[in-house]
Amino acid sequence: MSNIVFEPISDRNRFAADCDYKNTTLDKAIKAALAKVDYGLECFGEGFPWGSSENNVYRRVENDCGWHTGFWTGILWLSYELTGDEKYRRAAEAHVPTFLTRIEQEIVTCHHDMGFLYTPSCVAAYKLTANEIAKKAALLAADNLLSRYHEKGEFIQAWGPVNHPDFNRMIIDCLLNLPLLYWATEVTGNAKYEDAARRHYRSTVSNIVREDASTYHTFYFDYETGKPSCGKTAQGYSDDSSWARGQAWGVYGSMLNRVYTGDKHSVELCKKLLNYFLNRLPEDMVPHWDLVFTSGDEPRDSSAAAIAVCGIMELVKFLPDSDADKKLYENAALHIMQSLYDNYRSEPVPECNGLLLHAVQNKKSGAGVDECNLWGDYFYMEALVRMKTDNKWKLYW
Ligand code: GLY
Repeated sequence: MSNIVFEPISDRNRFAADCDYKNTTLDKAIKAALAKVDYGLECFGEGFPWGSSENNVYRRVENDCGWHTGFWTGILWLSYELTGDEKYRRAAEAHVPTFLTRIEQEIVTCHHDMGFLYTPSCVAAYKLTANEIAKKAALLAADNLLSRYHEKGEFIQAWGPVNHPDFNRMIIDCLLNLPLLYWATEVTGNAKYEDAARRHYRSTVSNIVREDASTYHTFYFDYETGKPSCGKTAQGYSDDSSWARGQAWGVYGSMLNRVYTGDKHSVELCKKLLNYFLNRLPEDMVPHWDLVFTSGDEPRDSSAAAIAVCGIMELVKFLPDSDADKKLYENAALHIMQSLYDNYRSEPVPECNGLLLHAVQNKKSGAGVDECNLWGDYFYMEALVRMKTDNKWKLYW
């Protein structure tokens, strides 16, 4: 960790300017987002959107696919918190039994994204309404996630069957799956979940974060010995570039580690990852899909911007007012949100049933390029709620 470089913010003037987003734009942004949530409820009924749109329209799926369905339930919980309107609560609650069925019947659960699936849906349901079915489902999901932990190498395996030499790797995204484990320890008193989360986090910092504070997307371990092997990309431009969303997962994930473990080094790490991210933003403050691109017309990933805003808002809670960069970070979050409203909101596209335009799921495979995606919509909504509550929102994570 100490060997990771702290790259200062290169253009301080860019973030020194105040942004009046909260007074001029926030309420309009919330209204526009809620209108799209209402339209989504019409489109998806008791079902779910697919993870990314086609021509800005999500198709309806059931809770039997992908790693993303929890985000729609999470959007409904956030809408409920914003408005107090029972229709959102009823819609979110109707999803909870489908998450229990999914984990009990192991329907597309052979991967590590238990946190993405179960935190914004079931942990949120339990925290907000003490829903016992949600608690049961989320604990089963935590058990599933824990079953992917490798003692050798001390990491949680991302994809594929466990104990298979071809799949012996972790990915940076998993930092957002760890809060499910911390929560499981909180509600059961069993330290085994937290212990694995702490070790996985440590392995992530040692292996996924490079010395210049950029990040690998994925990292392999030797199957026999568990020794670190090599970094590889899956969704980024190249093995040695930084996939923008991965860097954003790192920004938010390091702060979630701070929240659960009290580890002060996580705050330092977050600043390093964040400065790397901010220094590579193009003019409108929303990154290209990989940070190797800093200008030009490569697709943007608005979802990475929304995730980063949530991470920044968590970071500033832990910075003293004397921190020379705190104000710049607060302004950066506001400027990014202003740009997301001005240039990326879906309101001007009537047929669109998502919230944020111009995101990228996977540029290399061609899936969901320049489309809405559900995690972008979720984290945009979370950022709106954080802004509206003066950053006092109680985390689902
Ligand atoms: N967690 C997968 C992704 O960010 O695309």
